[in-house]
Amino acid sequence: MQKRENFASQFGLIMAAVGSAVGLGNIWRFSYIVGINGGGAFLVVYLLCVVLVGLPVLIAELTIGRSSGLSSVSAFQKLAPRSFWWIVGVMGVLAATTIGCYYPTVAGWSLGYVFESMFDWNALVGDTGAAFTEFSAGWKAIVFAAAALAVTVVVLLRGVTAGIERCSKLLMPMLGVIMVVLVVRSLTLPGAMEGVRFLFAPDFTKLTVGGFLDALGHSFYSLSLGMGVMITYSSYMKKDTDLPSATVSIVTMDTAIAILAGLAIFPAVFAMGLDPGEGAGLAFVTLPAAFASMPFGQIFSILFFLLVFIAALTSLISILQVPLALLEDRFHFSVKKGLAVVSAVVIVFGVPSVLSFGPLAGFTILGMDYFTLMDRLANDIFLPVAGLLGILFILFSFGVAASKREFLTGSKRESHFLATIYPFAIRFIAPAAIIVILLRAALSFAQG
Ligand code: TRP
Repeated sequence: MQKRENFASQFGLIMAAVGSAVGLGNIWRFSYIVGINGGGAFLVVYLLCVVLVGLPVLIAELTIGRSSGLSSVSAFQKLAPRSFWWIVGVMGVLAATTIGCYYPTVAGWSLGYVFESMFDWNALVGDTGAAFTEFSAGWKAIVFAAAALAVTVVVLLRGVTAGIERCSKLLMPMLGVIMVVLVVRSLTLPGAMEGVRFLFAPDFTKLTVGGFLDALGHSFYSLSLGMGVMITYSSYMKKDTDLPSATVSIVTMDTAIAILAGLAIFPAVFAMGLDPGEGAGLAFVTLPAAFASMPFGQIFSILFFLLVFIAALTSLISILQVPLALLEDRFHFSVKKGLAVVSAVVIVFGVPSVLSFGPLAGFTILGMDYFTLMDRLANDIFLPVAGLLGILFILFSFGVAASKREFLTGSKRESHFLATIYPFAIRFIAPAAIIVILLRAALSFAQG
């Protein structure tokens, strides 16, 4: 077997992990679910979920990955030989592959919207709803999804250090800069304060049970948990990587980018008198309408969709790295051969996802179109089940104490507040919360 690569620097590693976490989830998905759930109160619940559920599960995944030095499935096999825990890894790979089949669709929209904003601005902002329908149902959606996938494959071909790490180190700071420019623009619009109030002033009467549970599920999704991404990435970390500070950086940056995205989007939406509760079209339908009526809106539109694409790209890289690392570690595939297999799968199962907005719009399984089905399958079933099983693995096989020890190995300090609360959180709070998500999925499924 070839010698495994490691991330060259702590900064590069953190950027790669942050690159995975910060994705469509932070901008496209976060803003629209905040929008439909009424704003501030939802944000409070979301933050609680990040701290109480996301954080402990992140620590669990980081310690599993680094102590084994192997990608998801093999990690479980090494840490618990002659047992069935590797199935947890398999669930994760399934989740990753499922998300990998629909993620390029939305990544393609954002890339396409960079070009539409540049070259077809007037058509784009004439009637933004109609423009989005036309774009997502047509040939362009396919071309741009393919382009998004192609760029990802090129990065992965270069390997962990030269590809993933280099690319994340360059793109993540760029994303930060563009984000700040957009936030400043949005906040200085007349009437912007209305949007700030929407995002930060909690009105708990607007919070429904569904909203509470949405927050829980999204905290998982946003931190890239439950499918072995963090296990795989941390397997490339050296023993002297400071896990507590990596954990703090990943969680703060992921959350900060989501809040900044909210600050870029809601003030603009309110300033232009638009509806924050638009739903999944918020970023692609409502926001261009807001750009249309601000000075230099075209430039801000280009920047915004470039930002979304960068965020999507570093996440898609991490998603495809999961099945790829499995093929490499477990079946000794070369990177090229592995990527050929992974791309073939993603293309075969990804094309129907793009077409769900066009020719396949009427084709439904269990009442959902193919795109929605993939999203629901991954988020409602694979992610939480894999996450819960991962926790059970820590509790009953790897051991909370061993996980905690691994967490502190390489840290400059003897103890850390996260290490202190981790055992309680991973034993009680996180599993209880995930069971709630699963019950909710079952309930909503039963109700159709
Ligand atoms: N976290 C990314 C986002 O917010 C998506 C993502 C990447 C993801 N890797 C993942 C979600 C692993 C769940 C599991 O868009």
